[in-house]
Parts: sequence; structure tokens; C-alpha cells
Amino acid sequence: MNPRNGVTRREFLRRSLITAAGLATGVSATTVSSEQTSSSESLRLVFATDAHLMLNDALRSEEGLAAAVAAIKGLQPRPDLIVCGGDLTDTSPELDYPAADKLLNRFLGIWKRGQSIETHYVFGNHDLVGIKNPLVSRHDSRFGKGLFEKRLGLPKLYYSFEKRGWRFIILDDVWPNPDGSYYGEYKADQLDFVRSELEAHKEKPTVIAGHIPTVSVFGTWAGFARFVGTNFKRRPSLISRNGNSLVNLIRNSAANVKLVLAGHLHYQERMDMDGVCYLNGGAVCGNWWKGPLMGCSEGFNVIDLRPDGSFTIDYKTFGWRAS
Ligand SMILES: [Fe+2]
Repeated sequence: MNPRNGVTRREFLRRSLITAAGLATGVSATTVSSEQTSSSESLRLVFATDAHLMLNDALRSEEGLAAAVAAIKGLQPRPDLIVCGGDLTDTSPELDYPAADKLLNRFLGIWKRGQSIETHYVFGNHDLVGIKNPLVSRHDSRFGKGLFEKRLGLPKLYYSFEKRGWRFIILDDVWPNPDGSYYGEYKADQLDFVRSELEAHKEKPTVIAGHIPTVSVFGTWAGFARFVGTNFKRRPSLISRNGNSLVNLIRNSAANVKLVLAGHLHYQERMDMDGVCYLNGGAVCGNWWKGPLMGCSEGFNVIDLRPDGSFTIDYKTFGWRAS
């Protein structure tokens, strides 16, 4: 028995085998299908995460972001909605308020240029303003998550909405420490929120999105998570401290959750467990605009969601060449 999460080692290994069987990693352009039914009424979702727009257009990130937006805009069929998975900009934790505001403005200017696809935002650790800047006031309403909330008009960073029969739950799983670091966790109020959402919409196919992954195989083999004795240890800045709480909540709800999306790792990986697909969706910026990260190129996921709850996932690159 694992004392941390109440999962026996045998059960853990069984689940790991399921995970490994469903894994698709390190892809630059690939299509992964799930449940091969078809329908002409698909809802086309783009999950674009980790754009990391750099300060002063470092590494030509403005050109890169514009190329990603053009690729999304050019998709046929046209996307019905975009979920931006967080880390819109790169340097906000180090900046003061005017500089962070200007950078976020720059992001939104490029993002909205010539396209008007409905976009919903997830909060990322790089969106925390001023937490690594000792000169900014901690009491300013723009500190931490404040500027992002204000500029994107989000009274709360966790929320839900519905689109053509699919439910979407956006979670806020990034928490700053006083020393400027951060960790990932699903707080009790958000788990309650998910529980009530799933209870109220049990039959509806549902997508949940956050920034820091719930689970990750990449984290395990890259050394971010490992067994120490019988305990499974992972770095809480890279994988959620209590991802198992969300996994178990979904499992026990018997609701119709289909996908759990995350960003943060800049690596495309997919895990299928209990009929739920956990997708950590690459990164628009790849390796922070320096090229692919461990084989994963700059890109975004195009996810076609069908009325019967089936879906396809296609990681699209946009031909970015780093300097
Ligand atoms: Fe990131």
C-alpha cells in the first residue's frame, strides 16, 4: 500500500501499464485517434498552451506567436473555440506592473490580430506578476494573479462553460510561495467545484483544463517524479501535488469526463486511464523559442469533439525555425 494515496503497488503497476499503452510522446506532427466513430457535427477545440511571449521580442517570439496564430486561423474546418493553457508571457514574475501589463498587452494584440475565435484562458505560473521582483508592492491588486484577472476580465480563475453539448471546466492549479517559487495543487474549493459540476452534468461529455499536469509519464522518465522506497515522489512545481485527488474524484463521480488537458511540461504526452484521456499538450514555444524540446516541436493540439463523446487529437506544428 502506498501511504500517500492509498493505492496498492499492484494496482499502481496495473494502472501504469494502461498508461504506457496509451502513451504518445515526443511528436512533431501526429494524429492520435480515440473511439473511431464519426460525426459531421464535431466541435473543434484548439488547445494552445505555453506561448511564453518574451520581453522585447527576444528569440523572435513575437514572430513565432504570430505564426502560431496564423496556423490556428488557417485551420479547416475553422476552430469553434480555443483554450489557452497558460504561460501566455514568459517574464511576468520578474517584471514590475507597467512592464508586465505592456507584455500582456503585446500578447493579446498578437493573439487577437485578424482572428476572433472564442478563447478561454487557463492561468500559468509564468502569468504570476511580480512574485520574483522584490521591488514591487505585494499589496497592489495587480500582484500575482491580479493583473491577469483584470486584463482578461476573469473574476475567478476557475470556471465552467458549455459549448454544443460539451462541458468545459477550467481550473486554476498554480500557487506562489513567498520565495518566488510555486507549486501545483487542486485546492479544496476547486475540487468541490468540480464535484458539483460533474454531479450536475453527469451525462455531458466534459473537458477539464489546468496548467500543471495531473499526471505525467514524461515527468517520471525525465526524473521529475520517481519511486523512493514505496513512495511516489514528484516535484510539486512540475506535477500537481494532489493529482490523485482529481483522478479519484473523476473516477468516483461516474460522470462523462473525456479529457483532462494541461500544459507546463512543453512536451506532448497522452495517458488513457479509466476511459479518461490525460493530455499534456506540448507548447506553442517548444523549448522556449529555442527549438524542439526533447523532440517535441512548437505546436498546438487540434481536438475534434463529437456529440457522442468520442474525439480525435492532432498535434499540429507550424513550421517554426528558431534562430
Ligand atoms: Fe511553460
